[in-house]
Amino acid sequence: MNSLTKDAQKAAERVGLLSDKIVINGGKPLKGRVDVRGAKNLATKAMVAALLADSPSHLLDVPDISDVGVVTGMLGAYGVSVTKVGEGELLLDPTNVLKAQFHEIDALAGSSRIPILFCGPLLHRLGEALIPDLGGCRIGDRPIDFHMDALRAFGAIVDKSYEGIRLTAPNGLKGANIELPYPSVGATEQVLLTAVLAEGVTELKNAAIEPEIMDLIAILQKMGAIINVEPNRVIFIEGVEKLEGYTHRALFDRNEAASWASAALATKGDIFVAGAKQQELMTFLNIYRKVGGKFDIHEDGIRFYHPGTPLKPVVVETDVHPGFMTDWQQPLIVALTQAEGRSVVHETVYENRFGFTDALIEMGADIVVHKDGLESVTRRVPRRPLEQAAVIVGPTPLHGADVEIPDLRGGFSHLIAALTADGTSTVSNIGLISRGYEHFIDKLADLGADFSFED
Ligand code: EPZ
Repeated sequence: MNSLTKDAQKAAERVGLLSDKIVINGGKPLKGRVDVRGAKNLATKAMVAALLADSPSHLLDVPDISDVGVVTGMLGAYGVSVTKVGEGELLLDPTNVLKAQFHEIDALAGSSRIPILFCGPLLHRLGEALIPDLGGCRIGDRPIDFHMDALRAFGAIVDKSYEGIRLTAPNGLKGANIELPYPSVGATEQVLLTAVLAEGVTELKNAAIEPEIMDLIAILQKMGAIINVEPNRVIFIEGVEKLEGYTHRALFDRNEAASWASAALATKGDIFVAGAKQQELMTFLNIYRKVGGKFDIHEDGIRFYHPGTPLKPVVVETDVHPGFMTDWQQPLIVALTQAEGRSVVHETVYENRFGFTDALIEMGADIVVHKDGLESVTRRVPRRPLEQAAVIVGPTPLHGADVEIPDLRGGFSHLIAALTADGTSTVSNIGLISRGYEHFIDKLADLGADFSFED
């Protein structure tokens, strides 16, 4: 069994998925309603933030996904009790934080990238942190140099050991002036989670400003932090002596919402995504409209549907917020295989995020990946050295195939492709999808998908 399949099986077990393989009879539009709850990329960070407090925190709208299970296990290893007190409600009690056993955190860290964010809070609470090898999607090198440089700037000492990376702060952590080489989401969160209890003021330049980061800042403010978000990606954090627990409802998962929206378009369907909000999806909605997709914005969600006329090609570049998210391109590309003409997707955030297109090509899509990127007159972002581009020519009918899911978002696009395709597909490693899509099997059933499980 390869390591990807092992990861998929572990993730499947965490959310009680009985099989890691699904057989899909495609060619039927997805129609109906799905509910989207808190964002994976906020809820997991909010759980880490609870570690900074002297008293318990209460997080609402937590999705039932395997990455939440990983963070629950990590917190548990550090003595933070995490109790489910209602549907999607967690009580996180950090009053008895203790040093974790290495084997406990090592077993969990390999499944996610969140453990890196434990560094600052653990240095504050325990004076040391140990980070084993990290997991997460295999979509590029995913280095942690920005994280380590920032922690060093706060006064942490970083040592490599055979177990992983060991950090200590013999003189405590002090506010710092930090400029990120790129507006990294994780490194911005690292700085926020460390600066709030560091002595003095921290100035962070070139910060990421994703909605999930703004929601994390809102949580930290509820806890007692002083954080000012200035124009031009500058954030000032005034360290405080102590923080209290928070009560917070997690921001909705805009990546999941965009995924279902693309599923509606690709399958000629009509999906009401309850819980989706316009503000955080504006950039996505603009591209959706350019492709020809229809949407109606309601108080309690957004209805996404196929126009009934041919879809149009687009040129799109992924980017940091407020640009088009890198996590939105994979499901959208399935819809673009059905558009009339030549679309181009420039991936500017990760250097290896088109691997999933191999399976789409096997299903009949006309996609060429340019590994060194492509110039384009319509570009809105300057080129990064790691860029790639995918050229998609449509419309191409898709046919069923046996495909193996490579990562979370690519995996969801394989599901959509199988649902769009004529005939039968077998999709394996679906456990990886449960890392970020809550109850996706039930949701597919509610939308009328025709599928069964294979052992
Ligand atoms: C977060 O990853 C998300 N993960 C990703 O979602 C998302 O795709 C990404 O942000 C961009 O929005 C979580 O929130 C758990 P980055 P993160 O640091 O924080 C480079 C999903 O499917 N970089 O903004 O790891 C890096 O290699 C996942 O939900 C360094 O060079 O992303 C990449 O090219 C996948 N050195 C770029 O920055 C560093 O130390 C952006 O990465 C850190 C990052």
